[in-house]
Amino acid sequence: MKTFPPDLDREKLPQHVAVIMDGNGRWATQRGLPRAVGHRQGVDTLKDLLRCCKDWGIGTLTAYAFSTENWHRPLEEVNFLMVLFERVLHQELAALQQEGVQLHFAGDLSPLPATLRRQMEEAMALTAQNQGVVFNVAINYGSRSEIVKACREIAQRVQAKELRPEDIDEILFAQHLYTAATGDPDLLVRTSGEMRLSNFLLWQLAYTEIYVTDVLWPDFNRREFHKALQDFQSRQRRFGKV
Ligand code: IPE
Ligand code: IPE
Ligand code: MG
Repeated sequence: MKTFPPDLDREKLPQHVAVIMDGNGRWATQRGLPRAVGHRQGVDTLKDLLRCCKDWGIGTLTAYAFSTENWHRPLEEVNFLMVLFERVLHQELAALQQEGVQLHFAGDLSPLPATLRRQMEEAMALTAQNQGVVFNVAINYGSRSEIVKACREIAQRVQAKELRPEDIDEILFAQHLYTAATGDPDLLVRTSGEMRLSNFLLWQLAYTEIYVTDVLWPDFNRREFHKALQDFQSRQRRFGKV
């Protein structure tokens, strides 16, 4: 399915898709394999989804890779994920650069291992001018702490007399979120059937269309993404109007 599905309307594609990549552990457990195998398989799914966005003309992909709550997992799994992020970034950066992908990371990078953080900062700087798909990876991301961070930054600007309280509006607030450069998603996909947001983009999803599938993340292929887009195109987005 490299070519654009003929039943989809190019004019009505979401410009920004966000994904909660859930179910790696269950996928592995179902096969009697360690959870780590599911995470590794999940990377391939994400790589193909990114290429699919490029092939089909979707401008921005945001992927939830690690939440602020995921630190509470067993240390072994957390360490495995950090090493996996490092390895994948190292292996894929040249290809991403060649394809013109503009890489962003959303989240508090400060508690991440220093080598990973440096790699992420270098990757963002290297790809900042690229004009292809905008790829936003949420790592150590939590929406509530993001909102608190924004409040703190704005309060400091008010205290410094750089802003007045009446200058604070939705546009200014959004500029203090990790998504300042990438904006709000049109479509949110969550795999593995869970009907919750798990602290993901609480502000940004205010008017996003939500698609939940029982398919586990490692099995979420182009055919499944096609179904999500068909569903999206059947929705009537009203934004509160009639
Ligand atoms: C999502 O898969 C990946 C991360 C949260 C890093 P899970 O690891 O949550 O998989 P399940 O939900 O346990 O199946
Ligand atoms: C959400 O999945 C976080 C990521 C996909 C990175 P979780 O597996 O952590 O969410 P819960 O625990 O089911 O809410
Ligand atoms: Mg999960």
